[in-house]
Amino acid sequence: MPKEKTVRHNAQSEVSHNENPSDAARKNESVPQVKRKGMIMETALRDAHQSLIATRMRTEDMIPVLEAMDDVGYYSLEMWGGATFDSCMRFLDEDPWERLRIIRKSIKKTKLQMLLRGQNLVGYRHYADDAVREFVKYAVGNGIDIIRVFDALNDLRNMEIAADQVKKEGAHLQMCISYTLSPVHTLDAFAELAYQMSRMGADSIAIKDMAGLLNPVDCVSLVKAIKAKTDIPIQLHSHYTSGMASMAYYAGLEAGASIVDTAISPFSMGTSQPPTESLVAALAGGELDTGIKLENLVPVAEYFKKIREKYSNLIADIGGVDINILRYQIPGGMYSNLVNQLKEQNALDKLEDVMKEIPVVRKAMGYPPLVTPTSQIVGTQATLNVLTGQRWKVIPKEVKQYFLGYYGTAPAPLDPEVQKLAIGDEEPITCRPGEKIAPEMESADKAAGAWSLQPEDSLTWIMFPQVAKDFLPKKYARATKRDVGLNELVDNSAYPI
Ligand code: CO
Repeated sequence: MPKEKTVRHNAQSEVSHNENPSDAARKNESVPQVKRKGMIMETALRDAHQSLIATRMRTEDMIPVLEAMDDVGYYSLEMWGGATFDSCMRFLDEDPWERLRIIRKSIKKTKLQMLLRGQNLVGYRHYADDAVREFVKYAVGNGIDIIRVFDALNDLRNMEIAADQVKKEGAHLQMCISYTLSPVHTLDAFAELAYQMSRMGADSIAIKDMAGLLNPVDCVSLVKAIKAKTDIPIQLHSHYTSGMASMAYYAGLEAGASIVDTAISPFSMGTSQPPTESLVAALAGGELDTGIKLENLVPVAEYFKKIREKYSNLIADIGGVDINILRYQIPGGMYSNLVNQLKEQNALDKLEDVMKEIPVVRKAMGYPPLVTPTSQIVGTQATLNVLTGQRWKVIPKEVKQYFLGYYGTAPAPLDPEVQKLAIGDEEPITCRPGEKIAPEMESADKAAGAWSLQPEDSLTWIMFPQVAKDFLPKKYARATKRDVGLNELVDNSAYPI
């Protein structure tokens, strides 16, 4: 991260605390608040199993350990969002809403947290504003306390509807910075982003380092830069892939962050988070003491050790530190995807070329952070540029949409020549992309209609229509013990079952 110090705002003098909407919200006792420093969010029920076992942990494997987890004294438990929603239905034949209700029933003392992709909710495209509002309403209504809202491009317009609704529901709004390295992602830019988030009513800020790129030195600078602009609590989220996450957490906490995201040891390290027990032990006795007793983590760790064994066939070979993350500065998941794609095309010898092409593509696209869905978009274009032997010869639909502005505004200007190649004479949009999407709830209510057992089923339908077509009738049949004649529902387009 460039260490430019062209400070344009001296926020502490500029921001009167009375002006900040988050201060007003903080006085509202019903909104869950951050009370101290040195706290832990446990990720075993979401990010950790998403990172290590392809999000395949079943609800029935979570239930027996919930009481022990509730007794630990975590700040929060991340248990929903990201890929959990999709894979619940797609691979496990489980209703994600039901999982949320089941967990909420057992977790009485600890806050439940989820990850929301802004206007993308937990899906892979932008949804209409009415769907975004309805989703947040039901997420909070079913038991979520804290919603972490992010956008792949850090475009605040893609977070604004979700953020507004989180506030309306009285939940804790955590707005999230997608961390990345590029010439335009300066300390000032990140700090300004955090400041804008606080103005939008954020109760806390998360720094989401999906690639494990955040080193301790930069973490200190970043936390301090944000602290200089806003005093709302900071939570750090990283992955252990490059081996730096524990160090970055410690440094970040010392510099003023309040909460770090960790995973109980059997589900930690590699592409997952740093181990909870190690952080708790490392901070014990100091000013950042988490207040968690190691003894309370023992039953949780023992339980997840068994679960890890149960799912061992799914664990990717994570080995130790992945030096490629440090070399190429891309997320581990993106790296392994590219390796697999090139293997399939018998072109693994081109890996080095593709890696070198990624920065070229990123620059032309205005340096998007690499997280779902931009990581896939950039990776695919870089691969095509190399395999076709000519840059921008083939441009997929998603890249064209990106250059048309449908993903939002890129962090830096787009390369005009490449944009011209991608969109021709079409006019890019400049408004908030969500404005272009007509309301979706009414038609979804109709579409899910016959199989709908709860209002939430319409939201499921909007986000994953192909999966829902299969899943909702099956769920309905189970609940009503009726044969529903699945064939009638399935349209002619083939999809994997
Ligand atoms: Co993560």
